[in-house]
Amino acid sequence: MNKKICVITGANSGIGKAAAVQIAQAGGHVIMACRNQARGAAALREVRAQSGSEAVELMLVDMSLQSSIRAFAADFLARYDKLDVLIHNAAVFDVTQKQLVFTAEGRETIWATNHLGPVLLTDLLLEPLKRSEQGRVITISSKGLVMFPFLKVDLADPEFRRRKFSVTKAYYQSKLAQVMYTYWLAEKLGDTAVTANAIRVTNVKIDIDSRYPNVSRIGRFMYRIKSRFSISPEKMAETYTWLALSDEVSQVTGKYFDDPAHIVNSSKYSRDKENIAQVMQVTLDYLQAPAGDGSPA
Ligand SMILES: NC(=O)c1ccc[n+]([C@@H]2O[C@H](COP(=O)([O-])OP(=O)(O)OC[C@H]3O[C@@H](n4cnc5c(N)ncnc54)[C@H](OP(=O)(O)O)[C@@H]3O)[C@@H](O)[C@H]2O)c1
Repeated sequence: MNKKICVITGANSGIGKAAAVQIAQAGGHVIMACRNQARGAAALREVRAQSGSEAVELMLVDMSLQSSIRAFAADFLARYDKLDVLIHNAAVFDVTQKQLVFTAEGRETIWATNHLGPVLLTDLLLEPLKRSEQGRVITISSKGLVMFPFLKVDLADPEFRRRKFSVTKAYYQSKLAQVMYTYWLAEKLGDTAVTANAIRVTNVKIDIDSRYPNVSRIGRFMYRIKSRFSISPEKMAETYTWLALSDEVSQVTGKYFDDPAHIVNSSKYSRDKENIAQVMQVTLDYLQAPAGDGSPA
C-alpha cells in the first residue's frame, strides 16, 4: 500500500474525527481506533462521506484495557506491515466524575486510558512504525496544564488510591505524564527515523449534550459561555494533520506543539530528565504488573 497508514484513537468524535476526515482527504489510509462499534460505525460513515475517501476503516480498541490494546495490536500486525502515523487522541475527562472508577483490569480509568494505554500501544506497534519510511507518534496533551505549572505526577499514587480523588487533577496528571513520555520516547527512538511529538490542545468545542449528558444546567450554561472562546475541532485537527503528514516536520522530534509550527515549552518539572526517568519507571512498572492487583509498588 502506497498510502500513509494512520491510526487515530478515539476518532469517533471531536478532534479525532475531524483529523480522520482531513488525513483521509489528504490521501492517507485512516484506521479509526474506537471502543464502541455503533458509535465507531456511525463516525466511519460520516468520515468516508465528508472526506470522499473509502480508505478509512474502523478497528475496535478500548484504550483503558491492556487486553483490548493487545488484541488490537495483534489484529493490526496481522493486516499491515508498516505504520506511518499513530495519534494517541483518545482520552477521558468527565467533569461530573466525583468518585474513582476502576477498569475491569483494576486500573484507575483516567491513568489507564490517557497515559498507560498510549504507552502500551506505541510499544506494541514500534516495529511497524520503524518499518515506515518515517514513522510518527503523536501524543495529545492540554493547554489547561499552564494553569498548573507546579503539577507533578504522584509517583507513589498516580491512581489516587491513598489521596482524595479529583477528576481535574487526575486528568491533568495524565496529560503531564503524556508530555514527559513523549520526550522519553523521542530520546529512545533517537537512532531511528521514528519521531515523537506532543500537541498542546487548546479550548476546543465539544458537543456537551452528547458527550456529557450528566452535566448540570448551570454547567451547560457555563460551558456555552466558555465555548465562545473555543476553536472548532476542525481547526484544532489541522495541527494533528500537519504534524502527521507534513514534510516540514519529518526530522523534528521530542517537541511540544501548539498551533502549527509553533513549538512551546512544557513545565520545568516535565522537562527534567530525572523526573522523566522516574515517571517512566513507574509507568513501565504499571504495565508489567499483573492486571487487577492495584499499585505496582
Ligand atoms: N476539547 C478540549 O477543549 C480539549 C482540551 C485539551 C485537550 N483535549 C484533548 O483532545 C483530545 C480529543 O478530545 P475531544 O475534545 O475531541 O473530545 P471527545 O470528543 O470527547 O473525544 C474523545 C474520544 O476519546 C474516546 N475514548 C475515550 N475513552 C476511550 C477508550 N477507553 N478507548 C477508546 N477511545 C476512548 C471517545 O470515545 P467514546 O465516544 O467511546 O467515549 C472519544 O471518541 C483528548 O485527548 C482530549 O484530552 C481536548
